Amino acid sequence: MVIRKSRKKIFIIICAITCFITLSHHLYRYAHHSFPAYFSPPPLPLISTLSNSSQSISIVHISSQPSLPPPKILSTISILIPDWEVLVIIPPEKSTQIILPLGNNYVCLFPNNVISSARLLGKLPFNGGYAFKCEFPMRNRRRLPFFQPILVFKEEQENLYFHQFLNAPLHLLRWNFIVYDSFTTKNDIVLFVKGVNNRQGVNRPPSDFRCVFGDEPLTAVRTNITSSVQEVFRCPRPEITGSHPISVTVEILENDRTVMMPTLARYVPDNRRTIIQSEGKSLMCACTMVHNVGKFLREWVMFHSKIGVEKFVLYDNDSDDDLVAQVESLRKEGFDVRTIYWVWPKAQEAGFSHCALYSTQICDWAAFFDVDEFVFSPTWLESAQPNIDMLRSLLPADPDVERVGQISIQCYEFGPSGQIVHPIDGVTQGYTCRRRFDQRHKSIVYLPVVDQSLLNVVHHFRVKDEYRSIQIEMDKAIVNHYKYQAWPEFQSKFRRRVSAYVIDWRENMNLMSNDRAPGLGFQPIEPLGWTEMFCEVRDERMKMLTKRWFGVNGHSIMAWQSS
Ligand SMILES: *[C@@H]1O[C@H](CO)[C@@H](O)[C@H](O)[C@H]1NC(C)=O
Ligand SMILES: *[C@@H]1O[C@H](CO)[C@@H](O)[C@H](O)[C@H]1NC(C)=O
Ligand SMILES: *[C@@H]1O[C@H](CO)[C@@H](O)[C@H](O)[C@H]1NC(C)=O
Repeated sequence: MVIRKSRKKIFIIICAITCFITLSHHLYRYAHHSFPAYFSPPPLPLISTLSNSSQSISIVHISSQPSLPPPKILSTISILIPDWEVLVIIPPEKSTQIILPLGNNYVCLFPNNVISSARLLGKLPFNGGYAFKCEFPMRNRRRLPFFQPILVFKEEQENLYFHQFLNAPLHLLRWNFIVYDSFTTKNDIVLFVKGVNNRQGVNRPPSDFRCVFGDEPLTAVRTNITSSVQEVFRCPRPEITGSHPISVTVEILENDRTVMMPTLARYVPDNRRTIIQSEGKSLMCACTMVHNVGKFLREWVMFHSKIGVEKFVLYDNDSDDDLVAQVESLRKEGFDVRTIYWVWPKAQEAGFSHCALYSTQICDWAAFFDVDEFVFSPTWLESAQPNIDMLRSLLPADPDVERVGQISIQCYEFGPSGQIVHPIDGVTQGYTCRRRFDQRHKSIVYLPVVDQSLLNVVHHFRVKDEYRSIQIEMDKAIVNHYKYQAWPEFQSKFRRRVSAYVIDWRENMNLMSNDRAPGLGFQPIEPLGWTEMFCEVRDERMKMLTKRWFGVNGHSIMAWQSS
């Protein structure tokens, strides 16, 4: 206690000195009108009381004056995710006050003053907070409990000590038991919840839960949950007002107790609608999960936008390639491509549910295709040019009259077709040999009739009872799935499995599963004869079609190559 007190005193003295220096610096600079205030040393944060009731640490009051330099430490919530990585999130109520540059200017400070660098992932979708990622240091892995790190300004890392700020640090949250996102609709709020419904098809009833709105358990407002399927929970909006984000979580009602789930989700009571009201509704959106697809994106977007997809919604799982640059250049050329950071482990189904919610505001239909999947109709083979009514022609003319809520299209899986590297003129040109029989199917969903539960399994949604799903004949539409690409491409895909309900390919289990690559084991080692595998039928229809539609310079190069 004595030691701590004297430390505190020293700290206050240092603070006073630094403040004095900082202030005089500022005055000096302002007087000379020469430097942005940005370059001056950051002022010391005000330390406020630590409250752990809401799982959000309030260490720093971040200044809202734009002329002030970046804060020394940031108020965060941290979650341990697989592979010893830590997601460090600045909640939205703090983010709104933060002044850039966030960049890669921060590091994670762990107990015992172990430091690891923090990589900025971006702004989280509707919660609005910023997310960083840090490695959980090797040295701290052996001793439980694990504590949340502090995000500190890089240039200050030498001067700050973990216990200086936290004498009762919070336990690191775990990704497998958490409310990780929320989405507000006109009538209700949708929560994304890990750790309750862990097995496919087994969902605990809504009456086992309640939504809890507010930062203090005692004054919090509760509403009943109306649906709890997979990771998606819904409850009515509470009758409260306010323009600040408050935390929202799920309470689990058990026989003799209630358990409050840790949460990252926030709710803004007065927020009538979170999306762009001014935006007109388009016929078709495409929803897709991406990871390092920068080099494929252009071909995929150009092709599908020419046949009628107007908006592309990419759920980016931590890409570290040139995705951002690709998206930017497509946007500059007038393509409507938007990216939503979706970094949650094994959250593909939830991401699709999220996209269904999001797209409902801006499109009538959503196609759930991956970036290696291209839809086409054999009836288009004669067309000299693509046109934007082509996809529409595959859909029911009036889904409400015909009571069709979803169409599915069967896929052909293409093999490496002799390629040993990514074909520079694109996948549609390079891969022309496929397996004989169709595998799986992909869906285009009529968004107004997606079931309230948002349930989806392998790209297929549950639709309202009065509506049906129909499968399109293969002479009318097909999806070319460039699944088994040149080995370097396939290998990078092999390492990542994304569904919450599908086993990891690296596990020596379930070797006969439809989801595996047939004949391929569970190790990312190039099998003998890979380039000729999965090649039973030559199918050059897409190659011919796209060459005619997108070939430029006398068809010598493809439109997507020119940039
Ligand atoms: C909050 O702090 C108190 C006292 O430090 C501790 O007993 C309690 O378990 C903490 N609660 C949470 C949710 O971390
Ligand atoms: C909430 O659920 C409880 C128990 O299931 C029920 O008694 C109550 O009427 C419900 N409240 C509302 C507003 O629906
Ligand atoms: C994102 O990538 C990580 C790492 O490969 C993986 O564990 C996770 O399941 C992926 N999540 C989604 C939603 O695709």
